[in-house]
Amino acid sequence: MKKVTALILALVMVFALCACGNSTDDADDKGTKLKILDSEYVTEDYAIAISKDNEDLLAKVNEALQALIDDGSVKAVVDYYISGIGELPEIQKNVASDAEELIMATSADFPPYEYVDGDDTVGIDVAVAGLIADKLGMKLVIDDCGFDAVIPAIQSGKADIGMAGLTVNEERLQSVNFSVSYATGVQVMIVREDSDITGYDDIIAKIENGEDIQIGAQNATTGYIYASDTVENGGFGEDHVQAFPKGADAIAALTSGKLDCVIIDNEPAKAFVEANNG
Ligand code: ARG
Repeated sequence: MKKVTALILALVMVFALCACGNSTDDADDKGTKLKILDSEYVTEDYAIAISKDNEDLLAKVNEALQALIDDGSVKAVVDYYISGIGELPEIQKNVASDAEELIMATSADFPPYEYVDGDDTVGIDVAVAGLIADKLGMKLVIDDCGFDAVIPAIQSGKADIGMAGLTVNEERLQSVNFSVSYATGVQVMIVREDSDITGYDDIIAKIENGEDIQIGAQNATTGYIYASDTVENGGFGEDHVQAFPKGADAIAALTSGKLDCVIIDNEPAKAFVEANNG
């Protein structure tokens, strides 16, 4: 598994280098429009990961988060980032300079939950974490460590909270605790606009037909876990799935024809497809 990941990483880098030297290809890639297929996957809950050794912080975060859900602050943040409605509440405006740090492990490659905007890391998770830090009298510090490092950062104590559009699942519950849920997501499939793939069954039919169908997902995400599962379990089988460091890398591979489909959460899917289709 490690080796495969390293190989894919190396390949992605080679592709990236090639792309630089070839402006005609770049222009072609830009013209490739994408579409999101109707989802066949169930709704997932996003929640905050906290160390199993830190029940105290879990209780405090849950209390703060529940209050922010109840008073409409979380909804205001979601409306602002997803629907472009209203304004953000005041966040981290009056933090004492000597306030204790609340370190948030994240992977700022997942709009509208967390992404980089100029010099700032912003998005729903960053805003909600800031509001929680305010309630706890703490100063929010972002550790943009990459998605596959979020849960390890919580386990090792390098970070206090993990917020990354992070889906609660059984496997992760073995390693960390989760707060109450503050948002939901659904895995969707993205294909090129001219693709004849309309859903899971089409892909399985093509695979059974001997076609070398390749599906991409961000490494360590639930999208990757579902996709790489066996066909009996509703996946496509590991041979047909490639892991990418970031969702945007998978999207780039899709537009340039190296993948047939990308599986990712619905809101980032919309953001990436909109950005691509212009
Ligand atoms: N919800 C999915 C999961 O938990 C994807 C999260 C990806 N998050 C990110 N910040 N890249 O596996």
